[in-house]
Amino acid sequence: MSLMQSIRENAQRLSKCIVLPEGTEERTLKAADFVLKENIARIILIGNKAEIEQKSHQFGLQFIRNARIIDPQNNPDKEKLATLLFEIRKSKGISMEEAMQLTEDPLYLATLLIKTGEADGEVAGAMNATGNVLRPAFQIVKTLPGISVVSGAFFMIFKDNPYVPGNILVFADCAVHPDPTASELAEIAVSTALTAMSIAGIEPRVAMLSFSTRGSAKHVLCDKVVEATRIAREKAPWLQIDGELQADAAIVESVGMHKAPGSQIAGKANVLVFPSLESGNIAYKLVQRLAGAEAIGPVLQGMAAPINDLSRGCSVSDIVNLIAITATQASGESK
Ligand code: ACO
Repeated sequence: MSLMQSIRENAQRLSKCIVLPEGTEERTLKAADFVLKENIARIILIGNKAEIEQKSHQFGLQFIRNARIIDPQNNPDKEKLATLLFEIRKSKGISMEEAMQLTEDPLYLATLLIKTGEADGEVAGAMNATGNVLRPAFQIVKTLPGISVVSGAFFMIFKDNPYVPGNILVFADCAVHPDPTASELAEIAVSTALTAMSIAGIEPRVAMLSFSTRGSAKHVLCDKVVEATRIAREKAPWLQIDGELQADAAIVESVGMHKAPGSQIAGKANVLVFPSLESGNIAYKLVQRLAGAEAIGPVLQGMAAPINDLSRGCSVSDIVNLIAITATQASGESK
């Protein structure tokens, strides 16, 4: 069974409630209909009820009637949610009037529904840029205890690639935090290892990537990766991790043995932590296009409740997959 099939089946068992703030968007509606038909999750759609009903009819969607619809312009809970938002953000200078206005923004409304416990997770981004999806999440849902930084992992799925014995590599951060400090990079490593375990049942072997292996180059950027590795070991003594390693030393056994003799990770890594968002984002897109790997994600990690961001070029199937992943994250259970 493929990774996505098993995640979808697992989600069916969990019956989590996922809120979709782009509730009138065509691909989102089609994905919601499929998710409801297959019982992958319960769904809240945010949007104008008449428009959702009209489009469901137009696209021949049979199961949307099982979704809960919340119209942000006509929401009986508006004042209650605005008060909640005001309480959370008053130290940052928000006024009650601004809070009332923001509850009409579907992306803010979705995160407030997570905060009240009405939804277990959120999937958005088919129409909105990453920053717009993430900002309300950072402001309202915030990070897990002990985590200061949210990051985004990709599951890169390969077919018969000699460097990927288990067919899956996990890459991070490919989506969120442009220039992490050593301490933040250490958090990203721990979060990514946990994501690899909880979503795919992978036993993580983490390589902290750089342009240097074991001091082969001297530069402050390499020092940062060495320091991040030290902090990650301190934070998570159970974690199998090594760095700094070059990418070839991380995944090619013969190169790993040569450049980092004695390392338990070199040549065997299945979780690759990149030193910056630039390198991670560029790497996942090149591997996806040039090596033909399927890229599943970004799976956002470190948030107190799961909120995941779609690419605006996403397909209906991408949305269904991300809803299933979000439901799995919401359960907090390992596979
Ligand atoms: N983790 C947790 N909290 C964060 C993070 C983070 N990585 N970044 C910012 N925050 C918090 C801040 O602490 C702040 O909280 P506060 O208001 O309670 O004090 C709040 O979020 C807003 O912080 P800003 O610094 O104003 O953040 P800003 O809104 O400018 O930017 C953002 C945050 C949008 C995530 C920015 O870092 C960004 O644009 N990142 C790149 C996203 C992107 O474009 N990725 C590539 C495309 S995705 C893809 O290709 C798959």
